[in-house]
Amino acid sequence: MATTVAGTSKMAILAALTLLLLATECRASPYYPLELGYYNDKCPHAEAIVKGVVEKAIYQNPGLGAAAIRFLFHDCFVEGCDASILLDPTPFSPTPEKLSAPNNPSLRGFELFDAIKDAVEAACPGVVSCADIIAFTARDASYFHSKGKVYFDMPAGRRDGTFSNASEPLKFLAPSTSNLSDLISSFADKGLSVEDLVVLSGAHTIGQSHCSAFVPDRLQSPSDINGGFAGFLRGRCPANPTDNDDDPTAMQDVVTPNELDNQYYKNVLSHTVLFTSDAALLTSPETAKMVEDNANIPGWWEDRFKKAMVKMASIEVKTGYQGQIRKNCRAINYY
Ligand code: HEM
Ligand SMILES: *[C@@H]1O[C@H](CO)[C@@H](O)[C@H](O)[C@H]1NC(C)=O
Ligand SMILES: *[C@@H]1O[C@H](CO)[C@@H](O)[C@H](O)[C@H]1NC(C)=O
Repeated sequence: MATTVAGTSKMAILAALTLLLLATECRASPYYPLELGYYNDKCPHAEAIVKGVVEKAIYQNPGLGAAAIRFLFHDCFVEGCDASILLDPTPFSPTPEKLSAPNNPSLRGFELFDAIKDAVEAACPGVVSCADIIAFTARDASYFHSKGKVYFDMPAGRRDGTFSNASEPLKFLAPSTSNLSDLISSFADKGLSVEDLVVLSGAHTIGQSHCSAFVPDRLQSPSDINGGFAGFLRGRCPANPTDNDDDPTAMQDVVTPNELDNQYYKNVLSHTVLFTSDAALLTSPETAKMVEDNANIPGWWEDRFKKAMVKMASIEVKTGYQGQIRKNCRAINYY
């Protein structure tokens, strides 16, 4: 009896020790979190250089600011925030993400990232990742489009991915025809909450959409869209827009088209939004309440948007020894 007890306790101690060892092992394995001021010692002017190029670009073409904010979403939801969206086709990877329907032809502003990367490489060759450039650019575009109201710090240290496949955006980016449950689950797949969905959808307060993204399900089919607004859109859009031919654009927010503000939520409430996915935010009491708070309480949306952008910018990031720092954002390094 005594030996059995002793044996059992020895076993228990051994098991406990093994567990402890495993736990220490896990803790000791290198983990590199994103950090504020990551480039302070590696490339002190990196963030200022990015900001300067972004400011000039938006001044020349405000659409680029909207594009930059959308880029963060489309990069981070596919393979994590690793700039896989910027990779060009090669013989080994003939159909990268940028050729996928959610990105092509509607995603604009690829040249902006070339310009930023050139400027940053001139100061610090091989140091600043394209993934961090996308994150900084989205942050700076938010700042300029809100006249400084949506200001936040963006942690960095992301490394660039080496894989990009056009089949993945279709899996992870919900189409504009989505209902609320599909939207919630696509955000949950990336660790984002229902509130993150509502708050990040507020980015549809700037920029444009091609008619093909909303005509079939919002104008050609019965929908809850405001009658006057539908009439205005019918004046801009052909009855059957196609992706390549005859597919003009409409502004997302006709009230304050270039202001990153909470007007989006007022538009949701007045049924003057473009997409089924926008209107879907009113289809549950929980999200409808969030829409009202964002529309009605000053500063409420801005506070949450800043945090949600940082959260989105941390999805499945590659850090430490993972990935690489691309020399050219359009191509992986082969050495
Ligand atoms: C919730 C699911 C979402 C859906 C279904 C969706 C869908 C779309 C679609 C169809 C367009 C129009 C593209 C075009 O035809 O030109 C668009 C534009 C845009 N989206 Fe979203 N989006 C979503 C979430 C987001 C998020 C999370 C952000 C960023 C935080 C974002 C930012 C933008 C911006 C800024 C534009 C305007 C782009 C431009 O002017 O070039 N969207 N979105
Ligand atoms: C991309 O994905 C498709 C479909 O899943 C697959 O057939 C193709 O081989 C993939 N390409 C690469 C380069 O992995
Ligand atoms: C949402 O849309 C999907 C198809 O994408 C459908 O299977 C599902 O039943 C819909 N959910 C609701 C609540 O309408």
